[in-house]
This record gives sequence, structure tokens and C-alpha cells, in this order.
Amino acid sequence: MSGPHPRAFVVGHPIAHSRSPLIHGHWLAAHGIPGSYERLDVAPAAFPDFVRGLAASGYRGGNVTLPHKEAAFALADGLTPRAEKIGAVNTLVVGPDGRIRGDNTDAPGFCAHLDQSLGADWPARAGGTAVVLGAGGAARAIVVGLAERGAARILVANRTPARAQAVAALAPGIADAIAWDDLPAALSEAGLLVNTTSLGMKGQPPLALDLAPMPAGAAVADIVYAPLETDLLAAARRRGLAAVDGLGMLLHQAVPGFEAWFGLRPAVTPDLRDRIVADLGG
Ligand code: ATR
Repeated sequence: MSGPHPRAFVVGHPIAHSRSPLIHGHWLAAHGIPGSYERLDVAPAAFPDFVRGLAASGYRGGNVTLPHKEAAFALADGLTPRAEKIGAVNTLVVGPDGRIRGDNTDAPGFCAHLDQSLGADWPARAGGTAVVLGAGGAARAIVVGLAERGAARILVANRTPARAQAVAALAPGIADAIAWDDLPAALSEAGLLVNTTSLGMKGQPPLALDLAPMPAGAAVADIVYAPLETDLLAAARRRGLAAVDGLGMLLHQAVPGFEAWFGLRPAVTPDLRDRIVADLGG
């Protein structure tokens, strides 16, 4: 790569908790790339000027986290079709012409994680029905990702039903909203269950769900990664179901950004995972 050392960032408010500098720092060191990945705290009022100033900043782009994902969507000069659909941007890339492209890498990140954990034929598991719990930004990305990968049917359940309907509308003809009370029947035909709610996260109530109706051979994925082993995943293991933790999505969503800014597609390796697990406190 010619020119000055490539620089990228993660921007949020607050930003101290972000693990992205650890992930990208690991890859920069592993590949001997003389670039940098910086943590930037930018308040919401200053974010529009931050994005407008990017072309002249010398940054090649960066990751966007809370609370700026929707603002980044509105401020980018162009969007990938995926980001357009999801309505939120977590990755910005400064083009050679100075235009800022917004992408959402949560969807391919989640799917790449399932590929690595379950094998690439996961969309066909148990007839291809996936049940998604929750209807926030993560659920939007995951429903778009599952539909892109050919899930035959997606059922979305959420505490607030109207939000589940809005998420299901992202995959017309494939996704439907269902009532939380209808989960036992939905689970009986589900090859994949994904928790995108904050239930099970440290400091939150556990997700209490009876997995008994799920068919043998089904998989359960949680996007919560603190703790790594949620009550939901423990229950899945006890039933002999495949259990997929939330850390992989965090690692895999970082891959497309690194490739765009630093010119090399990095791998999600066990040593990277171990490093983040150690940082999370075991
Ligand atoms: P994100 O963007 O990370 O997905 P979010 O938009 O805050 O986060 O969404 C959190 C999800 O967890 C929502 O689906 C929320 O349900 P509501 O849409 O009804 O708010 C769900 N959630 C959070 N706390 C919950 C609780 N105690 N019981 C059930 N669902 C809960």
C-alpha cells in the first residue's frame, strides 16, 4: 500500500467499552501493517461535522457504534443496498473521490459466524425456519442476513408486537411477526433460534424460554456475549442442540471494514477470540 500509513477509527459516545480497537489492533499487528485504528468519542451534536470532515481527515473510514448508527445512515453520501434496507450504518468507507459510503456489516458478520460455527448449510436446517427474538437494530440486520442467505421462513417475536411487524416487513413473503405466546408452536418447527434481545446480558433478567419443543438437530444462537455462556445457550446444550455464542458476530462484523481500509481480508482465528474473551474477563 502506498501513501501515508492507513488510519481508521471507531466512533461512539461513550466509546471506552468498545472492543473494536483490540480486534483491529490484533489484525494490524498480525499482518505487520503499519496503520492505526483509533477510538474516537464524538457527542451527537458534533457527529454531522465529524462525518462531513472525514474526506479531508486522512482517515480511510471507520466503525460507527451507539448512538450514531442512524445518524451515519442519514449522513453518508452513498449506502450499500444492505445498509439501505437495515436503516443503520456501522461501517464508513472514504472513497478515493472523498465520498463516504455507509455499510452495515452486522448481517454478513452474523452469517459468517454461523458458517464458521455450524457449516455453510445452516440455512437448510430443519426445513429452514428461523425464529428471531427481538426487534431492535440487531434483529433488523439478522433478518436481512438470514433472508439473503435463503432462509425459507423467518418468524419474529418481540415484547412490543408492532416492532416485530416492522422487522418482518424487511423480508416480505419470508418473514412474519408472531406473538410471544405462540413461540412454543413456532419453536417446534424451528431449525434455528436467534436471541437478539438484551435478555441474558449481564445485569438483565435471563431469557426464560422452554426449548423442549425444538427439533433435534436445531441450533440456538445468542448475540449476547457478556456473559459468553448465557442461560439460553446452557439450556440449548443441555438439550443436545448446537449452541452459538455472541462473540463471533462481533468479530466477523469487523472483517469487511478492515479489508476496505487496510487492503487485506483478515481471518477470525482462535487466538483473536481468546484475546477478546480474556479482555471480557474470562
Ligand atoms: P439493539 O439495537 O441492540 O438490537 P434495542 O433496539 O434496544 O437493541 O432492542 C432491544 C430488544 O430487546 C428489543 O426487541 C426489546 O424489546 P422491545 O422492542 O419490546 O423494547 C428487547 N427487550 C429488552 N428488554 C426486554 C425485556 N425485559 N423483555 C423482553 N424483551 C426485552
